[in-house]
Amino acid sequence: MLVVFLSPAYPPEMVSFTHGLAAAGARVIGVGEGAAPDSVRGAIAGWIAVDRILDRDHVVERVAEALGGVRPDRVEALWEVVVDAAAALRARLGVAGMSPDVVVGFRDKPTMRARVDAAGLRAPRTRRASTVAEVWAAARELGPPLVIKPVAGAGSADTYVIRSEADLDRVLAALQHVPEVQVEEFVQGEEFTYETICVDGAPVYESVCRYEPSALDARKNEWISPIIQSVRDLDDPYVAPGVTLGRAVIRALGMGTGFTHMEWFRTPSGDAVFGEIACRSPGANMVDLMNYTGDVDLYRAWADAVVHGRVGAIGDRPYSAAIVFKRARGRGRIRAIHGLEAFLRAHGGSVARVDLLPIGAPRRDWTQTFLSDGNLVVRDPDPTRTIALARAVATTVHLDAG
Ligand SMILES: Nc1ncnc2c1ncn2[C@@H]1O[C@H](COP(=O)(O)OP(=O)(O)OP(=O)(O)O)[C@@H](O)[C@H]1O
Ligand SMILES: [Mg+2]
Repeated sequence: MLVVFLSPAYPPEMVSFTHGLAAAGARVIGVGEGAAPDSVRGAIAGWIAVDRILDRDHVVERVAEALGGVRPDRVEALWEVVVDAAAALRARLGVAGMSPDVVVGFRDKPTMRARVDAAGLRAPRTRRASTVAEVWAAARELGPPLVIKPVAGAGSADTYVIRSEADLDRVLAALQHVPEVQVEEFVQGEEFTYETICVDGAPVYESVCRYEPSALDARKNEWISPIIQSVRDLDDPYVAPGVTLGRAVIRALGMGTGFTHMEWFRTPSGDAVFGEIACRSPGANMVDLMNYTGDVDLYRAWADAVVHGRVGAIGDRPYSAAIVFKRARGRGRIRAIHGLEAFLRAHGGSVARVDLLPIGAPRRDWTQTFLSDGNLVVRDPDPTRTIALARAVATTVHLDAG
C-alpha cells in the first residue's frame, strides 16, 4: 500500500507514526520542506520536497505533479495545520478518505460548533463578534462569566475569562489585533479529553484524560506544573457522559479513519459539555501517555488502522498514567535539578519516564510550547495514587535556570 504522509517528522512524534506506517507494511512517501530528515530515512520509500508545507494549494500542486499520475492508496496527516491539505490532495487525486468538507468540521471552530449544535449535543452558548459593539452585545446577552477567544485560535492564545465589565474593557484593549472573536458562556468544571482511533468512523481505540489545572490556567501561569492524567476505567460513571458525548460528536462530524482528539468539560452536576475536537493525534506527549497507560503502541495501531483498516488486540488498561510538565525557575540555561533523586528513591518503581532538559540546555519558551522544560511520567494501577504521585512531582521536583 502506497501512503503519502504529510510532514512525517514534525511535530517530533510524527517520526514514530512514520515508522509505524513502515512497520505496518506501507510504502511511505514523505512530504516536507527541504531534504528528507535522517530520523525517517529508514522508514520512507520516497520524498517529495515542497517549498512551503503550510501553503495548501502549493502542496497539492507540487505533490500531484511529483506523483506524475501515480495514485497513492492513502494520503494522511496528523499535524493540525496540514490536515486540510491532506484532504484537498485526496480530493484532487481521487484517493479514499475524509473529504475537505468533513475535515473543515474538525478545523474551523464555527463550522464545528454548528454541526455539533445541529446534532443536539451540549456545547457552550456562543456568539461571534468582529466589533467592540458586537462583543458588548454578546456579553450582555450571555452574561458573565464568559470566555473570549479568537475564532481562529490555537494554544489558548488571546483567550480570556471575563467576570466583570472592567475585565471586558481591559480585554477588548488587548484584543485589538484579533479580527474576529467568539464570545462564549464560561463552562464551570473540570477539563477532560476524549481520544480515539477510528476505522470508517467507528472507534477501535478510546481514551479519556484529565487536565490539572485547565489548559487555560496552565497556559497563563508559568509557576504551574501542568498535569495530564489518563483515566483507567472508561466505564467509570464520572467520565462516561464524556465518552457518550465524544462518540456522538464523531458521528455528527462524519469522522473517517484516523485519530481524533476532543476536549470537553465535566460540570459539577456531572454533565459533559463539548469544547473542541480535531481529526489528528493529541499533542503534549499524550500519545506516549496513552501508551504508558495501556502498555500499547498507538503509533503502530494508528498505522494499522490506516493500512489494514483494523488494529491488533488492545487489552485493558493496566494503569492510570500522568505526565507532569516542568518549567524551570529563572531564565537562561538549566543550572540544577532539585528533588528528583529523592523522588526516584521513594517512588522510582512508579516512574515510567524522566525526560527533563539536561543541565546546560537552554530553557524552552513555555508560552510557545506546552512541553516546557521537560516532563516526568508516573503510573500506577490506582488512579488516586497516580495523581498523588504527579502532584508530588509538581511540588517537589524543581529545575533552576540562570
Ligand atoms: N467556554 C469555555 N468555558 C470554560 N473554559 C473555556 C471555554 N472555552 C475555552 N476555555 C478554556 O480555554 C482553553 C482554550 O480554548 P480552546 O481549546 O477552545 O482553544 P484553542 O486555543 O484552540 O486550544 P488549544 O490550547 O487546544 O490549541 C480551553 O482548553 C479551556 O481551558
Ligand atoms: Mg483546545
